[in-house]
Amino acid sequence: MSQDFHAHAALNSPWPKLQAELEDLKSRLPAPANSLTTKQLAEHVLKLSDFYIHSPTSSSPWHEPWARHALLGYFHPLNLTRVFAAGERGRHLGFFEGLDHLYDLGSGSGAAAQALNLLHNWKSLELRDVSSAVLEFAVTIGQLPPHTRTVSARLEVRPPQLANPESTLAVLANVLTENTELPSWVFDLEALMIIEPSTREDSRRLQARREQLFAQGFQIWAPCPHAKPCPLLRDERDWCHDAIDYPAPSWWADLETHLPMKNSRLTFSYLLARKSTPPTSKSNLQLRLVGDVLAEKGKSRALACFDGERAFLSWFPQRRKAAEPTWRRGDLLAWPSDPNSFEKRGQDDRLEYRIAEADFPILSKLTDDSESDR
Ligand SMILES: C[S@@+](CC[C@H](N)C(=O)[O-])C[C@H]1O[C@@H](n2cnc3c(N)ncnc32)[C@H](O)[C@@H]1O
Repeated sequence: MSQDFHAHAALNSPWPKLQAELEDLKSRLPAPANSLTTKQLAEHVLKLSDFYIHSPTSSSPWHEPWARHALLGYFHPLNLTRVFAAGERGRHLGFFEGLDHLYDLGSGSGAAAQALNLLHNWKSLELRDVSSAVLEFAVTIGQLPPHTRTVSARLEVRPPQLANPESTLAVLANVLTENTELPSWVFDLEALMIIEPSTREDSRRLQARREQLFAQGFQIWAPCPHAKPCPLLRDERDWCHDAIDYPAPSWWADLETHLPMKNSRLTFSYLLARKSTPPTSKSNLQLRLVGDVLAEKGKSRALACFDGERAFLSWFPQRRKAAEPTWRRGDLLAWPSDPNSFEKRGQDDRLEYRIAEADFPILSKLTDDSESDR
């Protein structure tokens, strides 16, 4: 991966495809969801949101029409966007190369399959969920290729015809909160993508799974820029998640006027793992910003993760003559070529690099600049 590669990836950005999908989704809602008033839809959204808050480990109530309406009109577009953003990071790294078959496990309305279908061509796709009611809707709204299969089954059950594990990706999006264990058969596959809510608890549990994946022969392609133990697990107060600006469709603002929660910024935690070696391990040491850029009393700082360490990169904007860093949470950065151009201070959880005039070039951003400026 190089800066040129990033520029090339941005030029071929699939973000407009996502925006077109989001815009179109509302018109694809099947009856009776399409005849609900926005206020009624918002009431269903609040009911499902309450359900998840009060029963986080219970099965989603997809047999209830109100729950399916809330999923399709609200959670589906949000989860579609989150998986797309994590997948787009993978695409920049070449994560989908050589992968032909996709299993969306605990697919719900198929947000993950729909997102990954915008980023890559799949020879086969299977949406798997215990609820046949929700699978029916997944096909209606997802505009998935005609060869997509839907299978009403438990994700723990190994598919009887698992023909090409070496070119297969399984995605588990927002499923491990309900099912705490990864199904053992997915360890035979070439690639895994796990995406979870960005809460401290879900995210820390997800990062703890890295060791299990390493033991099963996987390597982490993203978001971690190293294979050392996660430095954010050392302190209970830390957790790793990314954030993007939500490219909300035009119909979203009306819905949000009836909801107490706002979604201008979407957060999520994820792991992309493959048996093959990630490009980051072949290049020079990289850093990933795991925090927002914070401006406080004349000093700016952002938490970075690299090589098993966590450290703040800090600078004084008033004193800095070089251009102000334009970094955002989730960006991958390269170390400056001159190691003497910045100063190391403190240690352990107080480790800090005063970057002075140093440039830590951005290798890859979570969103294109045109997206993040929205
Ligand atoms: C929170 S929803 C997430 C849906 C979708 N992946 C998304 O991100 O929008 C979790 C889904 O997993 C399904 N599910 C839960 N346990 C399952 C299991 N053991 N086997 C198959 N599906 C399961 C539920 O029916 C539900 O549709």
